[in-house]
Amino acid sequence: MTMDVRQAVAARRSARGFLDTPVPLAQLRDLAEAAARAPSGGNLQPWHVQIVQGDAMARLKAIMADRLASGASETPQYAIYPPELDDPWRGRRFAVGEALYDRIGIPREDKAGRRRWFAANYRFFGAPAAYFCSVDRRMGPPQWSDLGMYLQTLMLLAVEAGLATCPQECWAMYPETVGRFLELPEGRMLFCGVAIGFEDTDAPVNALRSERAPVGEWLSVVA
Ligand SMILES: Cc1cc2nc3c(=O)[nH]c(=O)nc-3n(C[C@H](O)[C@H](O)[C@H](O)COP(=O)(O)O)c2cc1C
Repeated sequence: MTMDVRQAVAARRSARGFLDTPVPLAQLRDLAEAAARAPSGGNLQPWHVQIVQGDAMARLKAIMADRLASGASETPQYAIYPPELDDPWRGRRFAVGEALYDRIGIPREDKAGRRRWFAANYRFFGAPAAYFCSVDRRMGPPQWSDLGMYLQTLMLLAVEAGLATCPQECWAMYPETVGRFLELPEGRMLFCGVAIGFEDTDAPVNALRSERAPVGEWLSVVA
């Protein structure tokens, strides 16, 4: 199937259930390299990308399972959201969370059920591979936005290749464990992971279609 960019943009969404079918390492490398055509201010190309799959992925999942079972927590690498998340952002975050839990039938009161589901993040939702994206600590917001350009390019190329992805900031909540595992130098900070693989189209969670705010809420034309 050939796909134009508009179709790929429309088709990309975060998958949270994957088949265990492996993705060849050569393809993972190729997608990562092709995505580096993403623009970056001053052509700094501030992204560092590591591929985790196979035995390494099994090791990381086992380490995380232990960490979670022990109830350990770490100081997150950065504030994933502003401490005071006002509307409209707060409402949007709430809405997608509720829509997701609605899909998989875990009500608000079932806090343990929601925690258990969240833990599936640390199994990459069953994906056979992932990318981890990190950045030098000296880089600021402009370079962080470059990471976003890289990652979206990567995810669109994955769509074109028939693969699904889920960007995962949750890994930044365990910077010591993940940093040790990835052997990140002191000066480098983890931004996120991106699970990648073939979508499990039977997984109820994958029926989720996140909404977008009406265009009038954020787009205007300067007269
Ligand atoms: C940088 C980034 C980090 C994210 N981290 C997580 C995560 O840790 N776990 C998760 O389930 N979804 C995560 N998401 C997915 C968002 O929830 C999702 O992109 C948003 O709800 C819009 O849905 P869509 O991607 O299906 O269009 C992340 C998305 C981005 C861009």
